[in-house]
Amino acid sequence: MTALDLGIPAVRRAAPRDPARPADPRLIDSFGRVATDLRISLTDRCNLRCSYCMPAEGLDWMPRAEQLTDDELLRLITIAVRDLGVEELRFTGGEPLLRKGLEGIIAASAALEPRPDISLTTNGVGLARRAEALAAAGVNRLNVSMDTLQEERFASITRRDRLSDVLDGLAGARAAGLNPIKINTVLLRGVNDDEAVPLLRFAIDNGYELRFIEQMPLDAQHGWERSEMVTAGEVMQRLREGFELTPDPTERGGAPAERWLVDGGPAVVGVIASVTRPFCGACDRTRLTADGQIRSCLFARTETDLRALLRGGSTDAEIADVWRNAMWGKLAGHGIDDPGFLQPDRPMSAIGG
Ligand code: 5AD
Ligand code: SF4
Repeated sequence: MTALDLGIPAVRRAAPRDPARPADPRLIDSFGRVATDLRISLTDRCNLRCSYCMPAEGLDWMPRAEQLTDDELLRLITIAVRDLGVEELRFTGGEPLLRKGLEGIIAASAALEPRPDISLTTNGVGLARRAEALAAAGVNRLNVSMDTLQEERFASITRRDRLSDVLDGLAGARAAGLNPIKINTVLLRGVNDDEAVPLLRFAIDNGYELRFIEQMPLDAQHGWERSEMVTAGEVMQRLREGFELTPDPTERGGAPAERWLVDGGPAVVGVIASVTRPFCGACDRTRLTADGQIRSCLFARTETDLRALLRGGSTDAEIADVWRNAMWGKLAGHGIDDPGFLQPDRPMSAIGG
C-alpha cells in the first residue's frame, strides 16, 4: 500500500530554516504561540467504530513497518521534553490501549527530566484491568470518551455493545486513584442530544468531570455537515434545563474548554466550542502521528516527516530543528469557516484527539 492509498500526504522534506525564526529553542510559531503540549497518536487502530469517526468496516490500518517503534518514539519524546520545552504529553490513538508496550512507553516518558505531565485519552474499553498499571507507570490524568448512558444507543453510535466495559473502566480508573477523570462527549443531533442533563448528573454523582466537544470535520467518511452539528450554544441551552451554570472564574489558559460551575460549584462542566468559538489563538499544541509525522494543527494539510530523519541517521539536534521549523510554519487558525476550507486527508483516528 502506498501513502496515497492511505490518504496521507507524500513525504515533505524539511523546509530550509526561515531566517525570520528567532533562535529560541522552544516550539514557537510566527504568531507568538509556544507549543508545550505534545499529543502523541500511538496507533490508528480502534476497537470501536464511532459513526462520526470511521465507517462500520473500519479503515485500512497503518502498516506496522510504518509505525514508529517504541525506541523511535521515545527518542522523539526525549527530544521534545529535553530540547524543545514540551511540558505535557498526551497519549491518544485511535485507541491507545491497543498499543503494545503502552505502560513501558509511559514509564520511560515519566522518567524524563523535567518530568512531563502525562495524560491519556481512551475510549475506556479494557481500561478497568489496566488502570492500576497505567497509574503506576505515571499517568497523571485521564480522559474517557463516552457519548451516552444508554446501552442500545452506545451500541448504535459505536457499533459495539461495550457500554458496561466503559463504565467499569471509569470506575477502575477512579479506584486506581487517577484524578481528575474527564469524560468527553460529542452530542449528535437526533441521536443523543437529549442526554446532556443525564450525562452531567451521572458525572457529578460519580466524581468525573464532563466536557462536551463540538463535532469537527475530521471523520474518515467526510460526512460532517455544519448544520447537523450540535453547537456549544445548544449544549448550554440543554444543560440549563437541569442546572444553573455560572462562569468558572479560574484561568482558562491554553485549555480549550470553557468551564462552568454547576449549581454554584464545586462541580464544573466543560464545553469545547472548537467550531463556533475557536481557540486557535491560544493553542499550545504540537502533534505526532503514529508514523512519525509532525502536524502543527489537527487541521493541517501538510506534515513533516520525522520518521525519515530517525531512520536516515539524523542527529537529535537536526531532528529538533526540523520540528522547530514545522511549528514556525503553523497557520493562525483552522479556517473551518473559510470558503476554501478543506478537511485534512488524515482522519481524527490517525491524528489523535
Ligand atoms: N469531532 C469532535 N470530536 C471527535 N472525537 C472523535 N471524532 C471527533 C470529531 N469528528 C472525539 C472522541 C474522543 C476524542 C479523542 O475525540 O469522541 O473523545
Ligand atoms: Fe475509536 Fe475514538 Fe474513533 Fe470512537 S472516536 S472509533 S473510540 S478512535
